[in-house]
Amino acid sequence: RLLSKALQQAGGGAPRRLYCTKGFFKSPHRAATTSSATSPKFDGTSDITSTPIPEITDAYPDLLTHRSIHQFSLEQPDEFWGRLAKSRLEWQEEFSTVTDHDFKNSHFRWFPEGKLNVSVNCVDRHARRHPDRVALIWEKDEPGQQEYVTYKQLQDDVCRVANVLRDSGVKKGDRVALYLPVSPLAVASMLACTRIGAIHSVVFAGFSAEALASRIKDAGAETVITADQAVRGGKVIELKKVVDEAVAKCSSIKRVFVGMRTGAKVNMGPKDISLDEAASRASTQCSPSVQGAEDLLFLLYTSGSTGSPKGVVHSTAGYLLYAAVTHKHAFDYRDGDVFGCVADIGWITGHSYVVYGPLANGATTVLFESTPTYPNPGRYWDTVSRLGITHFYCAPTALRLLLRYEDEWVQRYDRSSLRVLGSVGEPLNHEAWHWFNDLVGEKRCDLVDTWWQTETGGIMLSPRPSSPGAPILPGMPMRPMFGMRPVLCGTDGKEIPENGVDGALCVGSVWPGIARTVYGDHKRYIDTYMAPYPGYYFSGDGAHRDKDGHYHITGRMDDVINVTGHRLGTAEVEDAITEHEEVAEVAVVGYPHDVKGEGVFAFMVLKEETHSTNEEITADLKKLVRSQIAGYAVPDVFLVCSGLPKTRSGKIMRRILRKIASGKPEELGDISTLADPSVVEAIVNAHAALP
Ligand code: PRX
Repeated sequence: RLLSKALQQAGGGAPRRLYCTKGFFKSPHRAATTSSATSPKFDGTSDITSTPIPEITDAYPDLLTHRSIHQFSLEQPDEFWGRLAKSRLEWQEEFSTVTDHDFKNSHFRWFPEGKLNVSVNCVDRHARRHPDRVALIWEKDEPGQQEYVTYKQLQDDVCRVANVLRDSGVKKGDRVALYLPVSPLAVASMLACTRIGAIHSVVFAGFSAEALASRIKDAGAETVITADQAVRGGKVIELKKVVDEAVAKCSSIKRVFVGMRTGAKVNMGPKDISLDEAASRASTQCSPSVQGAEDLLFLLYTSGSTGSPKGVVHSTAGYLLYAAVTHKHAFDYRDGDVFGCVADIGWITGHSYVVYGPLANGATTVLFESTPTYPNPGRYWDTVSRLGITHFYCAPTALRLLLRYEDEWVQRYDRSSLRVLGSVGEPLNHEAWHWFNDLVGEKRCDLVDTWWQTETGGIMLSPRPSSPGAPILPGMPMRPMFGMRPVLCGTDGKEIPENGVDGALCVGSVWPGIARTVYGDHKRYIDTYMAPYPGYYFSGDGAHRDKDGHYHITGRMDDVINVTGHRLGTAEVEDAITEHEEVAEVAVVGYPHDVKGEGVFAFMVLKEETHSTNEEITADLKKLVRSQIAGYAVPDVFLVCSGLPKTRSGKIMRRILRKIASGKPEELGDISTLADPSVVEAIVNAHAALP
């Protein structure tokens, strides 16, 4: 009673649960489905017609095909991006310069004099025009419990959280770590940071306390926003406990906001503040901070081939514009569509295509809290039919998992609302492509395999930029987005001009969504992306350009592996494993895995004097990797070896280990340069003896 009296005196009434938003839903109108059956047959040279891009075609009426608009975007980037930036974003102060780059030092600036606020662009301007339009549909873990949040409600929630943050001392430029389930609270928290100019760093809520702590420390964050618990696939995850463990290791943390997901009683210490209580007392008016176009918007940590994960930095206007433009044109998004990207907000796909791209375009976007198989393998398609989803964007690993079940799990649900299917994160193999296209999409939807990265901010290659009905070939992202000049470089570091070749996939242009730096380490940014092929951005991926000029991704060229669509540095896993006192040496590699894309394989040498059995050590190591990184990083196979294959200078020959892990010992090639070639035979035998 005391609490509610205090709240009433403060003008807030009873604590309002930020999640309770039922009752305001206006049924989103479903766009008519289109058929690509009438597409012109692809003849290898014919260009594809683009849907009009009014800002460009009004001024340049001849630009009607993708090829001509793409060419224009490369030749006249100022004209192209300047026009789009003016019409698609709302500015508090206009920019006069479009692009301003210093290649030598790898500084890229877009619209530098412009001032704007991201939350105004993603929420206020839509709430002004369409307050009752649904912004978010929260597909909660239990099917059938979806909640709807209108633009007006989202604006209120963003302002409340922003006021709470501001009142508690969070300032412009401060870093705020978010460790949250996929939920309206997560979106409101991200946008609340942008409202006051704070920089969010969303940490995937499956990461361990150790991983969260290292990200908090690297960012120097003083504030964490979390929730009591998360629920996923029917299981409860103790988020607050993980945060407590992480915060105990981080002296920088001054405050932890705890939102309510399940309402469970959790430990509340001196730094902990109930976000629902504080927000219910806060005003729904919050003046937006006037941000510079190049002010930092967010950090997102991602794995590299060496060292600890790096904080990729995105800045305000360029990122937002690129997310919005690619959301519209890679997916042919139209007003009234229901955009269903099932990625977690802890990854870049969630940032760009659950939150920023769709909201900048005033779309209705789905927040998917569950898993593809909960409570059964029909979950995705049940969600599509209940919510009337028009665009379904997911990862190949989920498709590979689902295609193992009966077709009936797909067929029993009405999927007539679907118009566009999308895939991202890993190569989309032919079997998964056909299952998605033929069974799920009934061959009448456009399926776009989109290639991009945390560092690119948005989609870079996609089969049909702005071109409904563009011919699409299975299993490749095919064509560049506007402003993107894909380049393949050879081992000599030079650009390869011909078609029908393989090379290192680089970008020979600058685009607004490019990451600006690695947080606190610009040298690492230059060394990783700019130095390997001078004059180009290097993606770390290899690609094939076919005879018709279409791009096909062949995989990472570095020591990064792609497990269930998540990037994982082999060095990170090795660091965790070598912490075990009985492990002398370890080498981790990726190998092809039917469902996960790549599996994790650890070859290890134990110390001479061990007091545990191999089974005990393996069990310890699984726990260790889970606690240092996350569940998905735990190796699928641990193989104890007597030695690792090394060159005479002591470098581990991973090429050989990759072949053994892939079950191809006959392809080892020349091993005579090894310091001790006999170790290879021992490893091959140990591998063959695996159950
Ligand atoms: O190897 C590529 C792979 O995912 C990497 C980027 O991972 P991340 O930064 O976590 O972002 C994932 C979501 C954008 C790339 O270097 N990748 C991404 N999309 C594709 C892909 N590989 C093949 N085909 C794709 N469509």
